[in-house]
Amino acid sequence: MAAAASFASVPFLPPASAQSENRQAISTAHFPGRRRRHFVTLAVDSSSSESPPAATESPEIELEFIGPKPVGDGSYPVDKVKVKSGEKVLRNIMLENKLELYGAYGKVMNCGGGGTCGTCIVEVVDGKDLLNERTNTEMKYLKKKPDTWRLACQTIVGNKENAGKVVIQRLPQWTK
Ligand code: FES
Repeated sequence: MAAAASFASVPFLPPASAQSENRQAISTAHFPGRRRRHFVTLAVDSSSSESPPAATESPEIELEFIGPKPVGDGSYPVDKVKVKSGEKVLRNIMLENKLELYGAYGKVMNCGGGGTCGTCIVEVVDGKDLLNERTNTEMKYLKKKPDTWRLACQTIVGNKENAGKVVIQRLPQWTK
């Protein structure tokens, strides 16, 4: 009479080499120390462990911020920051990177980005096309100012699809 087959459910980790190959791996586990030897055949399908496709990243905008005052050798300091296109307004980018945005009055009296104080002025030296159009708030506060001036709290950097470089003059009212 043939012995009945026994099957046991056991935790089993296939060899690393079998995991790394994208094919079906079959392994046999042996349990010594018992009177009868039981063999359990495990089938591991590693094809389901494929990683999902990577999410598409937003393109990046490179920003250069020119400081308002020259340093010792007469050159103007430039700070560089990269951001994802269309995610933030210029004011937040500058504050997060500790780049001085406000003059003396704006430091204490700014509206916190609400578009009601007109103190977060920057000048777009290059890359204007990578920013949103001037808003109605900017039309109101900047109507007598150069076209290149923007309010940082109203200026969205990128549109989630474009990429490139934007050059910003900080505190342009100090340099004019
Ligand atoms: S922070 Fe007040 S208008 Fe921009």
